[in-house]
Amino acid sequence: LDVGFVGTGSMGSMLVRSLIGSRALRAERVVASNRSAGRLNRLAEEVPGLRTAPLADLFCQCDTVFLCVKPPDILTVLADAGRYISEAHLLIVITNSVDLADLEAAVPARLAKVIPSLTQTVGAGIALLIFGSRCTEHDRSALHRLLAHISRPFIIDESQARIASDLTSCGPAFLSHVYRALARAAGRCQPDLPPPVVEAMVLQTTVATARLLDETGLSFDHVIEKVSTPGGITAEGIKVLDQHLESVWEEMIRTTVAKEHGKKVRVKL
Ligand SMILES: NC(=O)c1ccc[n+]([C@@H]2O[C@H](COP(=O)([O-])OP(=O)(O)OC[C@H]3O[C@@H](n4cnc5c(N)ncnc54)[C@H](OP(=O)(O)O)[C@@H]3O)[C@@H](O)[C@H]2O)c1
Repeated sequence: LDVGFVGTGSMGSMLVRSLIGSRALRAERVVASNRSAGRLNRLAEEVPGLRTAPLADLFCQCDTVFLCVKPPDILTVLADAGRYISEAHLLIVITNSVDLADLEAAVPARLAKVIPSLTQTVGAGIALLIFGSRCTEHDRSALHRLLAHISRPFIIDESQARIASDLTSCGPAFLSHVYRALARAAGRCQPDLPPPVVEAMVLQTTVATARLLDETGLSFDHVIEKVSTPGGITAEGIKVLDQHLESVWEEMIRTTVAKEHGKKVRVKL
């Protein structure tokens, strides 16, 4: 049986493209379904060989199904297709807004969670893997192997998922915000440096710093220490960041935790 993707919006399409593009899956073995035709047809045009099907057919043709719809729409999918979902299915949700135990009470399938990241567009970054209580050893290794084609899969507990997702899945947005703030501040202080030049400086330094950390194994502390000679200019800048930034990040994390708590979708069929 084949692999299905319900929902071909931003994340569903990205996963289909990356998994097929990386040769983790053959297009002929992938079935996609979407509420409306527009995004589904566009994806099918872009990925030759990709099959499309109505929801019920997708569950009949696939034993592994990724649910890539927004959290409240999971309820609609289960209401429409719940009767086609059996213990033969491995059902994978990609959101923290539903709990696996809730889903397990609603459907007989084996349940797992994959929290992807936009960085998987370029076959990089971390995908978080969380396994429900019914997952077999085979499910665990098969899902890990699949995601390893486009990411570094990290297996975590569901209770760790919110903060881990802030780092890996929201991370590209949070870090882009930091880069943008740095570029804007530099532009305000030195208006005769054109924005594209400032942005290139920030981007290339970011890419190089990430490579330096990743390829040499240097710690964050080490890099900070190596660049900031005591009493020097960098050290003065670091003092300002120390004073203001850590509390900002902590406030950001506490906000996402509180927000998610309020947004949980309860699954009851
Ligand atoms: N964006 C990220 O970086 C990111 C990262 C990790 C996880 N996620 C999670 O991924 C999930 C999807 O997010 P997204 O950004 O991909 O949303 P999106 O772009 O709005 O895509 C959702 C897709 O689901 C389709 N859909 C809705 N109800 C459906 C149904 N009953 N049957 C079939 N298809 C249905 C929609 O169809 P239409 O075309 O008709 O609207 C749409 O194409 C969310 O839970 C989000 O939390 C997102």
